[in-house]
Parts: sequence; C-alpha cells; structure tokens
Amino acid sequence: MAESETIRTAVPADLPALYDLARTALVHDTFSPALLSEKLFAAPRTPEFDWRNFVAERDGRPVGFLQTVVRRPVLAGGLGAPKAWVGLFAVDAAHRRRGVARRLLARAEQTWPADTAEVEVLAIPGNYFTPGLDPRYTTALCFLERCGFERFRDCVNLVGELERPFDTAAEEARLAGDGIVIRRARDDDGPRLDAFFAANFGADWRFEVHLAHAQSPPGLHLALRQDRIIAFAAHSGQNREWGFFGPMGTAPEARGHGLGRVLLWHCLNDLRAAGHRTALIPWVGPISFYHAWAGCRVARVFWRYRRTLAPA
Ligand SMILES: CC(C)(COP(=O)(O)OP(=O)(O)OC[C@H]1O[C@@H](n2cnc3c(N)ncnc32)[C@H](O)[C@@H]1OP(=O)(O)O)[C@@H](O)C(=O)NCCC(=O)NCCS
Repeated sequence: MAESETIRTAVPADLPALYDLARTALVHDTFSPALLSEKLFAAPRTPEFDWRNFVAERDGRPVGFLQTVVRRPVLAGGLGAPKAWVGLFAVDAAHRRRGVARRLLARAEQTWPADTAEVEVLAIPGNYFTPGLDPRYTTALCFLERCGFERFRDCVNLVGELERPFDTAAEEARLAGDGIVIRRARDDDGPRLDAFFAANFGADWRFEVHLAHAQSPPGLHLALRQDRIIAFAAHSGQNREWGFFGPMGTAPEARGHGLGRVLLWHCLNDLRAAGHRTALIPWVGPISFYHAWAGCRVARVFWRYRRTLAPA
C-alpha cells in the first residue's frame, strides 16, 4: 500500500466528496446527493443490518469508497446465518488499477462475521441503488470477477411512460361487485399489513412496504376482502426521484381477478400526479404483466453477482 493512503469509515460530512466520486464514475446513472445519502447513510433496519462505508484517501483527499452491509437475521430461535453485501463503490479515474478498490474490499471483508455464508453485490433489500451490476460498468465487472464473484442471475428494470392517467373506475366497480375494496393505505393499516406479510411475501417486502406506507400520502394501495388485505402495490419507498414503483403482490388465492393491474394503475397515477413523466419498475419479475397493462418496456439489464464464503 502506498504510504500516503489511508482507509477510514466514511461519515455523513463526506457526502459532497463521495457524491463527486460517484457522479463521475457512475455514468449510466442519474442521481442527486440526497439519493446517494439515502443509499449510504440512511441505514434502515438496524440492528439486524450493519451498514458501513469505507473511504480511501490519498494525501488527505478521498479517491475511492465502498459500501458494505451485513445482515444477521433475527429468527424466532435466535440469530440466523449472516449475509453480506457489497453496495456502491467507485474509485477516481486517476487512481485506478493501483489496488484501491481491492483494499477497500479487503477492509469491508474484515467486518463480515466469520460465519458469513455469502456476499452479494448491490441488491441490498430495502435500500438498493440497482438490483445488480449494469454490465456496462465493465471495469467493475472485471474487478468483481477478479475478486472471486460469480454471476448467477440477470434481472431488469422497466420504464413506463406516464402520458395519461389510467382510468380505474370500471375495474373497481367490477371488483366491488365481488366484495373487494380498492383503497389507499391508511395510518391504521399496520396490523393488517403485518398479518398479510406474515402469510405472504415475508419480512423484506414488509419492510419495503413500511417505507412506502410512511410517505405522505402513503405510497401504498390495497385490495381488501372482508377487511383483510389480499393484494398490495407500493411506490416511492426509496429512490423517490426516479418515480420508483414497487413492490407489489397478490395473495395466491386472489390471483387472476385483475387486482394487480388496478393497484398498479393507482400507483402510476400517483407518480404522474407527483410530476414524474416516467415510472421505474425495478428488479422485475413478470415483464409481460407490466408490458400488457402499462406498456412498460425493458430499460436496463443487471447481472447479479455473489461469492460463496467458506465456513471459518
Ligand atoms: C471498478 C473500480 C472501482 C475498480 O477500482 P480500482 O481501484 O481501479 O481497482 P483495483 O486497482 O483494486 O483492481 C483490482 C483488480 O480488479 C481488476 N480490474 C480493475 N479494473 C480493471 C480494468 N479496468 N480492466 C481489467 N481489470 C480490472 C484487475 O484484476 C485488478 O487487479 P490488477 O490490477 O492487479 O490486474 C473502478 O474501475 C471504478 O470506479 N469504476 C467505475 C465505478 C463502477 O463501475 N462502480 C460499480 C457500480 S457501483
């Protein structure tokens, strides 16, 4: 390591420098300092999640950073096996191929518990910038593969044009005839949501929906039968400036009744009313559903990378 290089934990006061690094390096993305701050410093879901950002400095100047997250799930019987993530990372172009990223990753590795089974790249539940690596970031792809990460899956982001509002009236009248109510989530829906996610979709989506529910007005629309939630669609829980949709889901027994498209339309109408010209549908999923009901098309492809860690 060069004598003048240090690696330390980043603090929120580093945001302007980290934003300069990220904005210059991440040429396929558009984002504000506030969005980067949400990814790096909002740190939702503690204590289950441990969030850290490391910054490399040369001669006192930040030249690179890397985020890492460790999650040790809290289970009924105690703590589950930890999983780690490598989040956003970038190195100043003038300082590349000198091992800066490799040393940042090695520093991150020191924070992973000895029994960590797996480390994944970028797809951090509830606070992700992208759900994998855009392979156009070719140097990052080379770096990850050199460091032992393996590509294991692809996923896509879709984009939907919000030219006109969707008319939900006829569909809602039809559903009302079947005893199904479509409405925006209310403040008192927390217990209904807890019950729904305990039976369907699990804790990660419960958390993402909590973020959407906390918006004002709630970025969350529900379908209910006999006062029980049977489907939901959310938006704006994170990455709000991108017109961010999701997640959405219908309980298995309620599928095939057209609930999903009505809830999708409500969310897209909200995004349009908030001034967005397009909606981002991330980490999809059923492409043909979004294409059929909202004309969405594939905007980006991501490669998911992970590394399996040998037990200590
Ligand atoms: C990816 C990135 C962080 C690598 O930073 P870096 O400090 O140059 O990486 P290192 O010097 O530690 O490289 C470690 C190894 O990765 C591989 N690697 C890194 N950059 C490479 C490149 N341009 N071409 C081929 N291999 C590369 C090499 O094997 C390298 O080891 P070597 O130099 O001994 O051969 C940097 O290129 C970057 O900031 N890219 C843009 C940001 C980005 O794409 N981020 C990912 C999305 S969050």
